[in-house]
Amino acid sequence: MITPKKILKMKKDGIKISALAAYDYSSAKYSDEAGIDIILVGDSAAQVVMGYDSTVKISMNEMKVFTKAVVNGVKNALVVADMPFLSYSLFDEGVKNAGEFIKLGARAVKIEGANEYILSLIKRLTTSGIPVMGHLGFTPQYINTIGGNFIQGKNVKHAEIILNDAKKLQEAGVFSIVLEMIPDVCAKYISENLEVPVIGIGAGKYTDGQILVINDVIGKFDGFSPKFARKYADTKDIITKSVLKYIEDVKTGDFPNVAESFRLEDDEYEKFKAYTNKIRIESTD
Ligand code: KIV
Repeated sequence: MITPKKILKMKKDGIKISALAAYDYSSAKYSDEAGIDIILVGDSAAQVVMGYDSTVKISMNEMKVFTKAVVNGVKNALVVADMPFLSYSLFDEGVKNAGEFIKLGARAVKIEGANEYILSLIKRLTTSGIPVMGHLGFTPQYINTIGGNFIQGKNVKHAEIILNDAKKLQEAGVFSIVLEMIPDVCAKYISENLEVPVIGIGAGKYTDGQILVINDVIGKFDGFSPKFARKYADTKDIITKSVLKYIEDVKTGDFPNVAESFRLEDDEYEKFKAYTNKIRIESTD
């Protein structure tokens, strides 16, 4: 079973960390069986599962359902639950909500940002036995403050700010940090100057690991797809073609066929035929 400690050791051993954001039992199970290291129950479920226009719209209750489903499908990977927008803006509520994810079977939580408040919350969680993954660079829960999906760390000064924030997160006790949408050389510089692993998304090839959203990876989500979201399959096409054919088979009567139907045993069939004939004769009398 992958633990936060193993994730830290992977960086020391120079082993790249593979991570996916996933939200349901089957996707989590198949990803786990394929050998993924980390499954994040990401708040990106807001867009790719719920169809909301922003991450900030997803609730704690919705995230709890997805977390339970993922936990049920996973035997080996480290399941990290994403703390949704405003679920940790009050200290005690943050601790309580993080604890709820752990009680559901997640083995770590993810929190965005690195201000003084966030750092103190991370310290409390980690010292209470809740491993925390940090999240810097583009932080979607701050979309209304940032003003859009903008690349972060685009100059030396900003890259230094991100590195300093990352060091503070490391000091506060995180076991890894997601770094989203920053130029590759800045991500390299930050990764090389931290002991905790940096898991990149849109942060180039030099980070200690990579994370993508499974719905992008399998081509199931047809909303906005950033350029870093490599598509390995076209599930939308598979679903559409399958449903089209199913509709046709239903309409033409091709589905279901004999093999797809339950049949009476021969003697029961004879009795059934005699019974329905009798009913028919009686009703025409
Ligand atoms: O919610 C999510 O999927 C994430 C990843 C993009 C890191 O936070």
